[in-house]
This record gives sequence, structure tokens and C-alpha cells, in this order.
Amino acid sequence: MNFNTVSYSIIEEIKTIVGDNYVLTDSESINKYSHDETEDLRFYPEVVIKPNSVNQISKLLKLCNENNICVTPRGGGTGLSGGALPIYGGLLLSLENLNNILDIDERNLQATLEPGVITEVFMNAVSDKGLLYPVDPSSKGSCFIGGNVSHGSGGPRVVKYGTIREYILNLEVVLPSGEVIWTGANTLKYASGYNLTQLMIGSEGTLGIITKIVVKLIAKPVTDVLLMASFSTNEQACAAVSAIFRAGIVPSALEFMERRGVEWVIEYDHIPFDLKEGVNAFLMIEVDGNNLDTLFAEAEIINQVLEENGCTEVLFADTAAQKDDLWRIRRVMPVSVKSNSVYKEEDTVVPRAELPKLINGIKAIGNKYGFSSICYGHAGDGNLHINILKGLMSDADWNTKLKEGINEIFELTVSLGGTISGEHGIGLVQKEYMRIKYSELHLSLMRGIKGVFDPKGILNPGKIF
Ligand code: MLT
Ligand code: ZN
Repeated sequence: MNFNTVSYSIIEEIKTIVGDNYVLTDSESINKYSHDETEDLRFYPEVVIKPNSVNQISKLLKLCNENNICVTPRGGGTGLSGGALPIYGGLLLSLENLNNILDIDERNLQATLEPGVITEVFMNAVSDKGLLYPVDPSSKGSCFIGGNVSHGSGGPRVVKYGTIREYILNLEVVLPSGEVIWTGANTLKYASGYNLTQLMIGSEGTLGIITKIVVKLIAKPVTDVLLMASFSTNEQACAAVSAIFRAGIVPSALEFMERRGVEWVIEYDHIPFDLKEGVNAFLMIEVDGNNLDTLFAEAEIINQVLEENGCTEVLFADTAAQKDDLWRIRRVMPVSVKSNSVYKEEDTVVPRAELPKLINGIKAIGNKYGFSSICYGHAGDGNLHINILKGLMSDADWNTKLKEGINEIFELTVSLGGTISGEHGIGLVQKEYMRIKYSELHLSLMRGIKGVFDPKGILNPGKIF
């Protein structure tokens, strides 16, 4: 792709749009915005811009479009697929200053907010009013809601409440031409032509810049029950997952963790947890609602299903502190695993009854290519995060054999009826595997959509395709 570099005169024009203080070219800023949370990848923007309004973004995009300058939008920088990496340089557009919660409409159970609001800040703001916004990725303390929308984010509660797709009603979007549209309506139903709101969700900043978000809220459940089940094998734990749903229970979270992941969390974060001999896998299961007796009855059914599926022990979290500790084990797992080894993370998802085949296949493929892995994730959704560890693999093998192994993992995932990302997105690092899931026809339809929104291809180039 051929883009123009950001010349001195363009920088001067940008300064007149956003003000001198919001145009950064110093090496510290360029460095800071050259990476997200995707492995150790770095790409340097030519200039970092921090606009303060929709109007400014509109003018910036118009200018870049006319001058063939590429623009990479960025939220909290917590992405795991390289979606916010400015791989062609150009302009890095940080949405961090658009960080206002504009309205919490308690009458309609809706809120309107800007993309730079930190997800947890928003969750707390609505929680104070007795409401729930349930989309809480592990990075909720630093990720932005705009990034969550752009990636179609999930998190542990998807299993009961659905992904972010269920909660976004309407979006204000600036198109590459600088024109501003609203994609839908602030309604719970939408049967009025193509649904551009849903198209924008998960488009990873390749179609337009999201500048306002209208979100659906729900009433906050009053209480929950949390339990942790131990198993001797990954396969048994994974098989128990679908059995729980077949027993008529819909947990508010159902997370899988491998033993080694828990070991590394304990080492990393010193969380008190009695890790017993012979236990190799865990399921963390939460049910929530408004009536504790009902929840205990559900927990009893879960207990029975777990026993029938080879569970060796069930730990009930009795106190709020115990619940916090268990949740911390799960939430800290990504960082503790990643801080222990050079790694490559994949985000597979299959129909949930296929999880045992997926986890066994991943381990077999690892043995074949010489890598180990730590898997954890949202088992209730059939969504497994695979952290492939370099361990003792030579650099040469890591750089060559690893790709073949990943290819096989994705081929297995697709053959089981799944796909190559459940919630982390495609971005830069998964795009070479898109051909495993999609035919050329399918990909050309997607490229056609990109071409309609962004004919010059200036927005987040080099991502998804
Ligand atoms: C998680 O479920 O913890 C997140 O998707 C983050 C990750 O897997 O790295
Ligand atoms: Zn996840």
C-alpha cells in the first residue's frame, strides 16, 4: 500500500484543527503508541493525534483522505491481535480524550458515551444506579469501550448475557470522507435495512471512527454463587461444560483453567489457593440472580453434573473475599502466563460440546511441533485462549514450525465447526489464517464492504485482510 508521509505542512494543518498540544511527534510519544498488548510487536506512527471532538475527527479524516495519509485509530492499547498497530506509519489517532459518559437514561435503560471511556469506569457508573453493563473483558480496568466495540469483545459473562453485540444499539461514526453518520436507532429492535451498527462492531477501525456509543443496560442481579471444580484431566473438565447446559443451567460465568496457569498465577500474584496433587484442570462456575435459594438449587444441580463427569472436588466460595480471590486467579492468568515465557496467543472458539476434542487436539499438535501451551478461557462459550509457550524451542523452530502448528490448530478448530477468533479479533496477527475459515468469495465480499466505506483504504490499513 502506498500512502504519503505526514509532511511538515500537513502537521501544521493538523495543529490548526486540534491545537498544538494534541499533536505529538516526540520520540517518547511515538514509542508509547508503537505497541499494544500483542506480543512484542512494535510499529512507529509518524505522528500521534489526540482529538477532543467529533468535529475535529471529521476534519482530520477529510484531510488525511484527501492527502492519502493512513490513519490508525487506538483505544486503550490492550488489544491482542495488533489491531491498533500503525503498521504503515501515518497518523495514530488516540481516542483517549473522548472519555465522557454523556447520559445514563434510567427510564429507557440506556446510556450514551464516548469511545475513550474505560470499560470498568462505565460499569461502576451504571452499577451505582443499580444497573448492569455485563461486557467485562479481563482488561476492563484499562481497555476503552470504543476498542471493545471495534473488536466485538466478550469476557466471562457472555455465556449468560451475550457479547457486546447484544448491548450496542446505535453508533455515531465518522467516515473516512469526514462525513458523520448514526448507524441505527436507540431501539431494542431494528428491522430497517442493513444493520450498519452490527457491521461496525468487530470491524476493528477499518470502516470508520466510532465517536459515540449508545448502550443497552439491564437490571443488576442481586447476588451470585461461585464455585471452583477440580478435575484430573482437561478432557473431563471440558466435557462437563456442555453437560451443565444440558442439565438446564445457564451460568453467568463458566471458565476453564489449566493447572499450570493456576500455578503461575499463584507464583506471580501470591493469591492464596490450595493446589492439590493430581488436579490438572479447573472449571470456575458462577450463577447469578435475585434469589439465593434458587441459586443454591442451581448449584446443587451443577454439583451433581460435575460429579457425574469425574470432578474430584468442588470448592464453594463462601465469602466475598474468597470470590475475589478466585476471580483474581482467572483474571490475572493472562499476565502471569505471558510474563513467564515468550508466547503466542490464539483465540479459538468451537461449539461448546466440541471443547474436549479441541483441547486434546491442541495438546497433540503441540507434541508434534515441540511446543507446550497453557489454555484457559470462556469454556461456556466454547472459547479457548491458547497461550503457546516458546519454552525450550529453538529460535529457528519458533520462527518456522510454530506457524505450521498454529495452522493445524486453526484447521482443527474450523473442522470442529468453530472459527479463528472468538473475541480478540483478527487485526494484524491472525489475518494470514483467514483463508482457513473463509473462501476467496467470502473474503472478496468483506473487501467489497471495506471499499464502499473507505475507497482509498486509509483507515487502519493492513488489518483483517
Ligand atoms: C481473557 O479472557 O483473559 C482475555 O481474553 C485476555 C487474554 O486471554 O489474554
Ligand atoms: Zn477472554
